[in-house]
Amino acid sequence: MTSTVRGSQLARLLGQWHALPGRRRSPDYAALAGAIRGLLADGRLPLGVRLPAERELAEALKVSRTTVTAAYRELRETGHLTSRRGAGSWTTLPGGHRVASSGLWTPQDDLDMIDLGVAALAAPPELVPAARAAAEDLPRYLHGAGYHPTGIVELREAVARGYTDRGLPTSPEQIMVTNGTQHALDLVLRLTLPVGAGVLVESPTYPNALAALVARRARIATHGLAAAPEGDGAGWDGELLLAGLRQTRPRLAYLIPEFQNPTGHLMPAELRESVVAAAHTSGTDLIIDESFVDLPLDGTPMPPPTAVFDRHSRVICIGGMSKPYWGGMRIGWVRASAPLVQRLAAARVGVDMASPVLDQLVAVRLLAQAATIVPARRVQLAAQRDALLAAVAEMLPDWRVSVPGGGVTLWAELDGPVSSALARAAEDVGVRLAPGPRFGLDGTLERFLRLPFTLPAAELVDAVHRIAAVRYDLDRASRPRWSEPAVIA
Ligand SMILES: Cc1ncc(COP(=O)(O)O)c(C=O)c1O
Repeated sequence: MTSTVRGSQLARLLGQWHALPGRRRSPDYAALAGAIRGLLADGRLPLGVRLPAERELAEALKVSRTTVTAAYRELRETGHLTSRRGAGSWTTLPGGHRVASSGLWTPQDDLDMIDLGVAALAAPPELVPAARAAAEDLPRYLHGAGYHPTGIVELREAVARGYTDRGLPTSPEQIMVTNGTQHALDLVLRLTLPVGAGVLVESPTYPNALAALVARRARIATHGLAAAPEGDGAGWDGELLLAGLRQTRPRLAYLIPEFQNPTGHLMPAELRESVVAAAHTSGTDLIIDESFVDLPLDGTPMPPPTAVFDRHSRVICIGGMSKPYWGGMRIGWVRASAPLVQRLAAARVGVDMASPVLDQLVAVRLLAQAATIVPARRVQLAAQRDALLAAVAEMLPDWRVSVPGGGVTLWAELDGPVSSALARAAEDVGVRLAPGPRFGLDGTLERFLRLPFTLPAAELVDAVHRIAAVRYDLDRASRPRWSEPAVIA
């Protein structure tokens, strides 16, 4: 089914799309095509959507029809639009591009691009030796058919041990191995969320979780997180969060209590306890995404796992190896009651049957080295975070950025509602950004930008220099228009 975006809707999404003045000035049609590409890149304009007729868009944008005709022609030439006479034009992606984990498209061969759209580290050096060792382990499994819907026992044992070590006694029967945390979320939603049911999420939140919820046609309500600075008042407003649960009584709430993506906030123990109690009262199941739980930096003390406070099997934990180890492993898991794990396994048979045995064996090998690999990742991340913070403080002193006590992202409050415009301009100078609105539902959050510190420090500093340069151009192009109330985030 193809959806259509109307001229007025596209005009609103495009916002200040006009060509930059001065030396970077490009013709209007090229600026318009670039802005539409930008909307596609940041996920605000979906793929396969039908664009308005040229005349309609020209009227909405108050430009000549030839400008729109030329922009559409350019988009067709770059592979971002497909047209059929009499039927219209649809958004597409050029061949050879993939959809990255952030939901952003990235060209495979675009090696010069500094990609700040994806918040994940490159693989640790231990990965290749672990993969070789895992191949030696494989014969143990070759006598069987190789389908293990809940995962191979030794990996489930290793994951269960990790929870137990964190103060949450867990048996292997409570663990189901999945192909990444995102897969874990999708499976849990399939099983527990009737189509159209209510879900509470943080705002901002992880965009691909929103995508999974939208795919289930969930009715999404948000709890707004306070931004920087860290300290009193940062993160969740306990009173509002608990009231939100009691009043809307959602079927599910999806929360990221440890170094929340994108804000980096850490939920205090008392709030964890009261959220679990409130969820029980309101009949809400909690999906607790623990993607970043292994990544406290600077010795940040960790509150107990949220599920410690769960006495009624309300809490379903999901997590995985992508952040501390490598996203390319595609290993994640669900921790839930043993009966729920069995039901998830049964549901999975209709989806992907099981995870690859060899990949699980690699995971077992890596988890056995957690005590050396994970601390090294923390040291690396802390150094990269500090380099990024220093570069932002120097080059973009008007931005407000808190120092996250862990995780992999900064959530910067910009000096104007320019996040999408900045992402578009940054693309031209070789930096890919995930602008604030990608982390919300309704096109707000234009005043914010997520900056991951997962790339080497030199690349992060280079990226900030490039961003600062285009920020300056944007400033000259459109400062008078920022004060419009319509763009408050
Ligand atoms: C909060 C959160 N959940 C889930 C994921 C997806 O993780 P995975 O690669 O394990 O599917 C990410 C990745 O960025 C994330 O930040």
